[in-house]
Amino acid sequence: MDRIRIRGGKSLKGEIRISGAKNAALPLMATSLLTDGEVRLDSVPDLADITTMTNLLAQHGVEVTTKLAGKERSVTLSGANITDTTAPYDLVRKMRASVLVLGPLVARHGQAKVSLPGGCAIGTRPVDLHIKGLQQLGAEIDLREGYMYARAPQGGLIGAEVNFPKVSVGATENLLMAATLAKGETQLINAAREPEITDLAKCLIGMGAEIEGLGTDHLRIRGVERLHGTTHKVVADRIEAGTYAMAAAITNGEVELIGVHHELIAAVCATLQQAGVQFTETPRGLKVSRANGDLLGVDVMTEPFPGFPTDLQAQMMALMTTAQGASMITETIFENRFMHVPELLRMGASINVHGASAMVRGVKRLTGAPVMATDLRASVSLVMAGLVAEGDTILNRVYHLDRGYERLVQKLAACGAEIERLADGAAE
Ligand code: UD1
Repeated sequence: MDRIRIRGGKSLKGEIRISGAKNAALPLMATSLLTDGEVRLDSVPDLADITTMTNLLAQHGVEVTTKLAGKERSVTLSGANITDTTAPYDLVRKMRASVLVLGPLVARHGQAKVSLPGGCAIGTRPVDLHIKGLQQLGAEIDLREGYMYARAPQGGLIGAEVNFPKVSVGATENLLMAATLAKGETQLINAAREPEITDLAKCLIGMGAEIEGLGTDHLRIRGVERLHGTTHKVVADRIEAGTYAMAAAITNGEVELIGVHHELIAAVCATLQQAGVQFTETPRGLKVSRANGDLLGVDVMTEPFPGFPTDLQAQMMALMTTAQGASMITETIFENRFMHVPELLRMGASINVHGASAMVRGVKRLTGAPVMATDLRASVSLVMAGLVAEGDTILNRVYHLDRGYERLVQKLAACGAEIERLADGAAE
């Protein structure tokens, strides 16, 4: 397996173009199951998770073509001939977001057989909210042999009021897509309102859907007979932007994040500003650097949008390892999302975990070490730590990064980081 080697100590200087958001692109690709028209998505990142979704959709019969114009990737999807409504265990196991095909398949094709995702590195992550919501729209869903067997009633799904007991990004997306083709009105109450959901709603509106309440926790959808194709540009990846902002701050560098706006990462900017990071809006994006010298410890709690995202918790912890003072980091979305802690400790960090909170006490320096991570965001937090650590850090299990960070090594190297990917078997 490939590894990444980082020699710490260089300040990042330069610009980084932020890619289209993985977490927006995945549900956007699933919209192709809702129409026999062509859905063209611009600014789709080149990532392992996108390939997994492409393979899953192809197995349903969606024709997928990818075009490159410079560094921008466009993906055109045509779901005119759906030949198979099964999402097999092997693909769903690889990527939980595969369950996003459930709503669209039941809504347009009347049936679906989708594997239950099972556990993952950051907790049990059930899909009960997806199931209950679709049942409220009239779907019959049986769980057998590790699969969800879903069927729409004769005549299709029926609009209903769905009040989510817990905020879920994926369940909101599944229900939103399904409701576009249901009969009558659906209300999604206590819906997630991440920018990726607003992006999905905009694309669906472009396809002819009738949706109100964008950006709020109350979405109202009036079902239509059919949707048509459209062209849509994927929103910028706020998690990638936040990650590079923190990488700039931890290395005491200055980086311009191209293609991202302050409002997309407002909660993150507010927290980082308290920690001594400054942001300046530029015509092309946001410039990030330290305000004046040291970083300061701040307390952070993860929350659904517009709160501080769980997908930046590990990176924030890495940032806090060398800040002045202490920082209490509380994870409220996922259990078991502190897998980066033992690895950061091996690099010299001072962190104590008490249940869902971690107390980080800033240290003067980190030291490079061989490290290994169990998930995407934990991996990138170790890259950030490696950028300031003394000596070499070797990161194993790079495939986690390939799932969610497009050209990470190239982007950091272009800003002066000493970072390289070592092919499987290459000497360190
Ligand atoms: C999405 C993101 C992921 C991010 C997460 C939270 C994608 C592809 N992934 O994941 O990067 O970390 O949002 O911002 O967009 N839950 C239930 N029952 C359900 C569904 C969820 O109990 O049926 C729980 C989960 O276990 C978790 C919480 O709800 O504790 C939030 O999960 P959810 O928002 O659904 O996350 P994902 O959509 O899987």
